[in-house]
Amino acid sequence: MTKNIDWSNLGFGYIKTDYRYISNFKDGKWDDGILSTDDKVVLNESAGVLQYAQTCFEGLKAYRTVDNKVVCFRPDMNAKRMADTVKRLEMPVFEEERFIDAVIKTVKANIDYVPPYGSGATLYLRPYMFASNAVIGVKPATEYQFRLFATPVGPYFKGGVKPIVLRVPDFDRAAPRGTGHVKAGLNYAMSLHAIVDAHKQGYNENMYLDSATRTKVEETGGANIIFVTKDNTIVTPKSDTILPSITRRSLMYVAEKYLGLKTEEREVLMSEVKDFKECALCGTAAVLSPVGRVVDHGNEINFPSGMEKMGEITQKLYDTLTGIQMGRLEAPEGWITEIA
Ligand code: PLP
Ligand code: COI
Repeated sequence: MTKNIDWSNLGFGYIKTDYRYISNFKDGKWDDGILSTDDKVVLNESAGVLQYAQTCFEGLKAYRTVDNKVVCFRPDMNAKRMADTVKRLEMPVFEEERFIDAVIKTVKANIDYVPPYGSGATLYLRPYMFASNAVIGVKPATEYQFRLFATPVGPYFKGGVKPIVLRVPDFDRAAPRGTGHVKAGLNYAMSLHAIVDAHKQGYNENMYLDSATRTKVEETGGANIIFVTKDNTIVTPKSDTILPSITRRSLMYVAEKYLGLKTEEREVLMSEVKDFKECALCGTAAVLSPVGRVVDHGNEINFPSGMEKMGEITQKLYDTLTGIQMGRLEAPEGWITEIA
């Protein structure tokens, strides 16, 4: 029986669900893994995650489709990205098959929390890994825990799909040759001051520039960015210091193959942002969130799509991507994993 939750009014927050998946790495190998009802983690006071932030995470969603199946979207891509992340952080890989198995087991065990089709809510899945044994010299731990929990969520930005306002901050997100291209917890820790400051000043999010030259658009704290040119080409920043968003890569494919649009992944100068007609954030949590305005130190860029609704091309991309995720449109091969 689906839980009695006010699905349509859910925000993007944590709600405890019944089961989470846990596997421990010790003596060079992962154990078999279990589903547990225990939401608490007990650690040594000097655990690597607590001292040197040796932790990373992923994010994906399970959806109830138009024909009442439960599916998730491209979990293999999250498994691969987590493998890239853990290698950069000197952590052990949790193999792709096991990652996907953990996703399936956790969703099945919490099936009553998968929101109904059409409610606007989805079941967000949070796989993560952290260093669990004591370290005191700066070095990688030898024991790790992989966990995966599920929590039902609504829209990431309050107001659902209303356009948001970004500001160009004076803070940087990622250093050249640093960790901006992987999903390390530390990237998010260092973005917290910038986001609190942005909110204080009335902005929804930060649009980070490349920290080497501060002339090129990178991404926000939790999503990649796409732009639409006046002749309907989809443009997205190419950079070694942004997270390779699975949503963005999927959207670029959808734009070309489903909508017949041209796409470009290239460097995007801050100075050309004023020439685009639409802008949106893309990510698992953000889905496709329209941006109405960007403020760069007193210089306001107002996109022609305005502050009331999504731009026309953004809306087409949104309808196509969510149509694929919710089973209204046929998906490219391998994009949908059926769970129940
Ligand atoms: N960029 C950052 C910094 C993120 O945290 C996320 C979220 O995962 C994304 C982009 C979007 O990636 P994806 O579409 O794979 O969720
Ligand atoms: C996601 O979209 O899954 C993310 O991880 C973004 C997050 C910062 C909420």
